[in-house]
Amino acid sequence: MSPTVNATAQPLDVAAIRRDFPLLSRILHGKPVVYLDSAVSGQMPLRTIERMAKYERDEHTNVHRGVSTLSQEATDAYEAAREKVRKFIGAASIKEIVWTRGTTESINLVAQTFGRMKVGAGDEILLSAMEHHADIVPWQMLAEEKGATLKVIPLTDDGELILDSLDELITDRTRIVGVVHVSNVLGTINPVKEIIARAHAKGVPVLVDGAQAVPHLKVDVKDLDADFYVFSGHKLSGPTGIGVLYGKLAHLDAMPPWHGGGNMIRSVSWEKTTYIAAPGKFEAGTPPIAAAIGLGESIDYLEALGLDRIAAHEHELLAYATEKLSAIPGLRILGQAKDKASVLSFVVDGIHAHDMGSLLDGEGVVVRAGHHCAQPIMTRFGVPATTRASFAYFNTREDVDVLVSAVLKAIEIFK
Ligand code: ALA
Repeated sequence: MSPTVNATAQPLDVAAIRRDFPLLSRILHGKPVVYLDSAVSGQMPLRTIERMAKYERDEHTNVHRGVSTLSQEATDAYEAAREKVRKFIGAASIKEIVWTRGTTESINLVAQTFGRMKVGAGDEILLSAMEHHADIVPWQMLAEEKGATLKVIPLTDDGELILDSLDELITDRTRIVGVVHVSNVLGTINPVKEIIARAHAKGVPVLVDGAQAVPHLKVDVKDLDADFYVFSGHKLSGPTGIGVLYGKLAHLDAMPPWHGGGNMIRSVSWEKTTYIAAPGKFEAGTPPIAAAIGLGESIDYLEALGLDRIAAHEHELLAYATEKLSAIPGLRILGQAKDKASVLSFVVDGIHAHDMGSLLDGEGVVVRAGHHCAQPIMTRFGVPATTRASFAYFNTREDVDVLVSAVLKAIEIFK
């Protein structure tokens, strides 16, 4: 049993949960849909869809503008969602919760503000070998701009980070460490608390990419002592177009604004503009209001289910799927870490991942096939692409059985 899973958690009522997701009743290519692609985007429960529709239908206007009743109501709902996020990740203050468009934008914001302040020529940025492109490319762009270098924490063949050399990899030129909490390809749950403590012992701040972690694990940013923690709404059973940057207030206060425009200013004259404090300083322009409110509703939904129950359910499915798929000759699972969440990537001898993905689609099984925006991991494991099944709290053992039968059918076709 994974150390991050509470084995005594009460089981979820999955049959009731599934009724909250109309898409799960769809028929694809004549087959009931089996949605095993929550790592690409989580499904939204009906109550989130309805809450967003209510805002658009009955409450729609802009936030933080004017004294109209409607604007006050919209602002209250929007800010209440920020408070839900704060509580959900255990942040000290809503001032530490910045709305962004998603994980990618959150990391770009940090790289182009905090990173530009801290990183200079000859400095180093330390990333793990299992980062998503979203936690590679913004740092690479910064490194090129500043004449800095990227260094990489290596991986074992099982897909675990090799931390023996972490203290040597963090040098007196390291300005920031970026590490993913849960790998979107390997499913590995990284020991981010330990990595943060070891980086802090050398005075180095850490950004954690939590996009694949927050849907599956209870995250407490204070307990982790993360300097920055970022994630997207749409992986968290919420809508697209909304994401979160958590930053320690001292960092956010010290950072310059990023995008300029309305909503983030204290005063503007031709001579000089002054800015409001965080988080508003980073939120120029009209935000995605319905999406923020919707994400708040999804957080309520997940909290009502209970993150420990979600983790236990998904872990059981992952173990079942791992056992079943491992028994298939010629199939190799990438990522065999001791502590894993929700993701199962595999390759099958003689079948390209894209062909496997298309054949599974024909059976109604929705998975992702490709490099998963993590090409360095593909290179590390010597494969061009993988097929990835990812599990959520609404999936069942029957879903896994359909996946396994569909994989076997694909193998028959390619014989
Ligand atoms: N990052 C998303 C995934 O892993 C898109 O599929």
